[in-house]
Amino acid sequence: MSTVALRKDQGKAEADYGTHNQISAFIQNYDKVKKRTITFAGMSFKNDLILRAARGENVERTPVWLMRQAGRILPEYRAIRNSLSGFKELVETPELAAEVTIQPVDLLGVDAAILFSDILVIPEAMGLEYQMIEKKGPWFERTIKTREDLKSLRIPDPAEHLWYVLEAIKLVKEELDGRVPLIGFAGAPWTIFSYMIEGQGSKTFSKAKKMLYADTAISCELLQKITDATIAYLKAQIKSGVDMVQLFDSWAGILTNEQYSNFGMKYVSQICDAITEVPITVFARGAYGSRTEMGRLNCNTIGLDWNMDISESRRLIGSEKTLQGNLDPCALYSDFKAIELETRKMLVSFGPDKHIANLGHGVYPDTHPDKVRCFIDAVKEYKHN
Ligand code: CP3
Repeated sequence: MSTVALRKDQGKAEADYGTHNQISAFIQNYDKVKKRTITFAGMSFKNDLILRAARGENVERTPVWLMRQAGRILPEYRAIRNSLSGFKELVETPELAAEVTIQPVDLLGVDAAILFSDILVIPEAMGLEYQMIEKKGPWFERTIKTREDLKSLRIPDPAEHLWYVLEAIKLVKEELDGRVPLIGFAGAPWTIFSYMIEGQGSKTFSKAKKMLYADTAISCELLQKITDATIAYLKAQIKSGVDMVQLFDSWAGILTNEQYSNFGMKYVSQICDAITEVPITVFARGAYGSRTEMGRLNCNTIGLDWNMDISESRRLIGSEKTLQGNLDPCALYSDFKAIELETRKMLVSFGPDKHIANLGHGVYPDTHPDKVRCFIDAVKEYKHN
């Protein structure tokens, strides 16, 4: 980048936001972002709005999809799910996983499919088997307590241990035939670490946090192992055909800002640096105090949860990144008129470009599909002036 162009961009950034920290972060990031823009040119889709928005290009309208769109909100999903032994059979049978991945594209009209799977396939492939217990959630018989436990974990070979995910991706891509892009995903290292230590969900994740304080060295080794496994897994997803990827850091908000920087962002940042083939989104729920640091990640898109103020987030993250989100999932319990109004308010706040519309977390299973359609249609019909 020439010095003149740099100064011009610097001047623009200064006019927009005015702080030196953000400007130097912007300059540091510029070359990484530029490299990324060149790498993913040249795919053909009938609808590639979401890829263009992720790349920061102008779009005719804001693209929209929902976290957890492939799942229990659809009676068509529940029909398939109820005919099986359980959640894991669905995840591990590529033809069925492919079918429920495509359901929301056909039935809701979203601008992207997200692969039907779970973040917990990684701990399992590393050696900790999980069960999904009806009405309770995930449960791991074995957890990580000692260095010996850590040593027993393998870095999985995706082709061998996660073949069913890769096979589902190939089937989805064939079936979609370029209608919309396919999003792949993984849990971020801190969130996966939490499940590997706790063995189940938790309100406080205090066992996982205790490990960070009491056994910092083991914690860092485990986080690094998960990071290495996740990079290999995402690269295998990309090779099999996913068009963009998202990291879910669902429990980011449990940590202090400093801890999230040292035990969360540090590893998320390694993954962002390694994934150069397709756009990458980082969704770190509750990481309010880390938004400025997130602006420096080598990623295209940052997901906002519903508590993150939109203009404040834009100011903290800077003007480079695309933002994703962030309607409160509970807003979809209101009436149709109110949903339209709230959706439009959200679209106005984000502005016409560098935005992918979504909820601020996964859609709740008891949301009526018509309310979900109302949200999607309100985004699709909205014209920015
Ligand atoms: O977004 C999608 O539609 C794609 C599929 C997807 C699932 N899980 C399917 C699923 C994705 C992206 C996930 C991610 C996931 N899984 C996260 C991160 C996102 C988030 O919500 O914060 C987490 C923390 C998990 C772990 C997990 N999986 C839990 C805690 C549970 C039980 C709670 C629940 O929602 O039921 C699951 C189960 C799960 N994963 C279901 C689905 C559709 C429900 C299973 C069922 O059909 O009974």
